[in-house]
Amino acid sequence: MRQNCIGVFDSGVGGLSVLAHIRDRLPREALCYLADTACMPYGNRSLEEVRERSLRVAEVLLARGAKALVVACNTATAAAVQCLRQHCDVPVIGMEPAIKPAVHGSVAGVVGVLATSGTISSERFARLMQRFTAHAELVVQPCPGLVERIEAGDLASERTRSLLRHYLKPLLDRGADTIVLGCTHYPYVAPLIRGIVGDDVRIVDTGGAIARELERQLGLHGLQRGAGEGRIRFLTTGEPERVLPVMRRLWGGELQLEACRLD
Ligand code: DGL
Repeated sequence: MRQNCIGVFDSGVGGLSVLAHIRDRLPREALCYLADTACMPYGNRSLEEVRERSLRVAEVLLARGAKALVVACNTATAAAVQCLRQHCDVPVIGMEPAIKPAVHGSVAGVVGVLATSGTISSERFARLMQRFTAHAELVVQPCPGLVERIEAGDLASERTRSLLRHYLKPLLDRGADTIVLGCTHYPYVAPLIRGIVGDDVRIVDTGGAIARELERQLGLHGLQRGAGEGRIRFLTTGEPERVLPVMRRLWGGELQLEACRLD
């Protein structure tokens, strides 16, 4: 079992921002990344749909022998992590917007949160907000259309910049000094965000924390791979030849991408 892969999934290329942290922290582990591109974006779908889809994706990864699952998607975590934990016999690590460290680090006491509509409409997110509203003002902003720009590899155009300007304005108007990237796609537009908010605003991402939690869970269950060089497999439910260029660009290196049909 220790030699088996860790299954990591997202609606598309966003989870690569988490996968990179996992690779850096756990270089010996074999990883299997599944981009559910055929169903992207999850953020515009109902939580029930995302839950169903996440269960099917998890089945595929388990069938490939995954010894642990990382839901590298805030929306899928909000919709499905509890259900996945009930159905899967392996550790399941989910994401959630890093509101806690953001609130603790905010001097102004005003934290902006960017996330998908799906994440924001979930009960899980409402509970997370409740825990911190007494400690800081939380300004929550859904970002429809942004994931699609990133999937298209459109990371620096004026169109993406003006979309971000529009979404960041309410946060800046309220005086937010900290911005939480509550979607795994958003780290890929962090340079654009930085350009808009300036150097004094902190931008908080969760990828590193998830890799540490994965390491902890593997240790707890005696699942770490002791030796070897971790191989990474990449799968997409979309058309590999369409997805490959942006995947290569975001991953920053050569990779092979296999088609994976869920139905
Ligand atoms: N990357 C995902 C997240 O973290 C969702 C993107 C989507 O809407 O498909 O929420």
